[in-house]
Amino acid sequence: MTKTFPPQRQTQAEALLKHYPHHPEAAMLPMLNLAESEFGLIDDEAELLVAELCRVSQVRVHNAWAFYHMYARQPRGKYHIRVCHNISCSLLGAEHLIDILQEKLGLEGEGTTEDKLFSIERVECLGSCGTAPALLVNEDLYENMTEEKIKNLLEELRLKA
Ligand code: FES
Repeated sequence: MTKTFPPQRQTQAEALLKHYPHHPEAAMLPMLNLAESEFGLIDDEAELLVAELCRVSQVRVHNAWAFYHMYARQPRGKYHIRVCHNISCSLLGAEHLIDILQEKLGLEGEGTTEDKLFSIERVECLGSCGTAPALLVNEDLYENMTEEKIKNLLEELRLKA
C-alpha cells in the first residue's frame, strides 16, 4: 500500500509541484526530501508516493535515491550525526572522534541507538576542510571538533531531546 502525506505535507507537496507545472518530475528531489522529513526514511512505499506525485516510474525515483547517498533507507535517530572521514578530517582526528561517538552511544559502527535518539553515518567531504574535523547533526554543521566538543555536544542534544 502506498504511503500518503498528511494534509500539511500534502499542501507542501502541491506547492512544490506548482513550481514545475509542465515538468512535475523536476520536483522529485525536493519531494524525496519532503518524504524523508515526514517518514524518517525513504522506503519502497515512500518511493511510490514520490513517483505518483511527480508522475514518474518508481524506478526513476529509486535511481535518484540510489545516486544521492544522503537519503535514508534505514530509520535514523532524532539526531543524525554525519561525520566526515575524508582526508582533511581524517588527518585531524576524525577516526578518533568516530571511536568516541561509537563508545558514547554504544554503537559498533554506523547505526542507530536503541532509544532512536542518535544515529551515526560516515560521509564524504562536507566542504568544510578548512575547519576539519567537521560533522553534521541533521542540518547543522559543527567544525573544529575535538573529543571534548563531541562529549559536550552529545550532552546538549540529550538535554534538548
Ligand atoms: S575532508 Fe572533511 S570536510 Fe572536507
